[in-house]
Amino acid sequence: MARTSRLPGFYKTTVQQRRALVGDATGVEPSDIERSLHAGGLDADTADKFVENVLGTYALPYGVALNVRVNGHDHVVPMVIEEPSVVAAASNAAKMVRAGGGFAADWDPPLMIAQVQLRDVPDADAAARRIAERGADIVALADRAIGGLVARGGGARGVEVRVLASDVVVVHVLIDCKDAMGANLVNGVAEAVADDVASIAGGRVGLRILSNLCDRRCVRVQCRVPADALATDEMEGDEVIDGIVNASRFAELDPYRAATHNKGIMNGVDAVVIATGNDWRAVEAGAHAFASRTGTYRPLATWRREGDHAVGRLELPLALGTVGGTLRVHPAARLSLRMLGVTDAQELAGIAASVGLASNLAAVRALATDGIQRGHMGLHARSVAVAAGATGGHVEKVAALIVEARDITLEGARKALQVLLAEGREPAVGGKTADV
Ligand code: MEV
Repeated sequence: MARTSRLPGFYKTTVQQRRALVGDATGVEPSDIERSLHAGGLDADTADKFVENVLGTYALPYGVALNVRVNGHDHVVPMVIEEPSVVAAASNAAKMVRAGGGFAADWDPPLMIAQVQLRDVPDADAAARRIAERGADIVALADRAIGGLVARGGGARGVEVRVLASDVVVVHVLIDCKDAMGANLVNGVAEAVADDVASIAGGRVGLRILSNLCDRRCVRVQCRVPADALATDEMEGDEVIDGIVNASRFAELDPYRAATHNKGIMNGVDAVVIATGNDWRAVEAGAHAFASRTGTYRPLATWRREGDHAVGRLELPLALGTVGGTLRVHPAARLSLRMLGVTDAQELAGIAASVGLASNLAAVRALATDGIQRGHMGLHARSVAVAAGATGGHVEKVAALIVEARDITLEGARKALQVLLAEGREPAVGGKTADV
């Protein structure tokens, strides 16, 4: 079945109707969606097997980004996030990108780095030479520690040596982790080869652990957005492109702005990473270390004008898995992969990065036009309405009233709700801001 991620009017429907629509679009049974997401997908007894000292679970909203097209394939993309407007903004921006053909993503093989630190090394340069000469032996040793991965087509791919100080050398063993994120495999290799590496190099074994700066496992995404698709009610598309390019330049010139620009990218990336049961702390650590690789903190995505198109490019390291870890036990994470219909971990990384670039586009376009608050406050008002006790169709109505009154406070929402309840009005469900 050809999947689609274009579901016009989706936001206007109820949660139940959305499950049916996503079921039709992805081939996943709505009853599976309901079951996998029931109580956040995780009960306390299962959670007790994950971590220690469990008291219960902590749920977050599970939404889907629409309109996402990557390398010619449509994906309904699950996003787990508490921040209002991120899902709508990503869907909206993905629709603009779609007008230019969608996202083009490419990725490195899933190579992770196992680090073995050697300390008290008597002659670091000579040690580095000896390690380089014995690279094939170290690769063979590493492969023996990960026989299962080797049988699946992965395994050690090479050895690198770096001299960090006159008495400190670090040895990197590169591991192709296939569809696993790879932390356990890589840590296992680091521990398995360390003693032999130390006896080849001289010196004592120090730390043995993966590096989260997995810069051999990068993903790159590009999109070309036509000016027409970027226009707002008040601004021509051409002017919006200028604003977006200016926003990119600001981030390229200033680490203070680059941090916020990258936060907007990670809004999208992390939400997909969490929805698919992956380790978002590892992803964050890698992304920000990569952003600093030149010695200055830089934006992960940049924007340029090419004729009457805005062209966005994003690159970041992304270690994601589609097997093992949380996926073994978390039904919602497994559901996410089925909905996405991905075939491997690197394709998943391409989709997560695409949603990151969509989130960035939405942010810089808003900043270059209306400012961020207009859309953001509209959606924030819905959370305030819920906090004030509004339910069902009253949520949208209360939100609209407090936005109109410019009083997006709990008190303002309570008053608006009282007025509606006194009038005995129960408006129809739905009616968010943008058609995404
Ligand atoms: C808010 O979560 C993210 C933004 O601040 C990103 C940006 O400024 O580019 C809107």
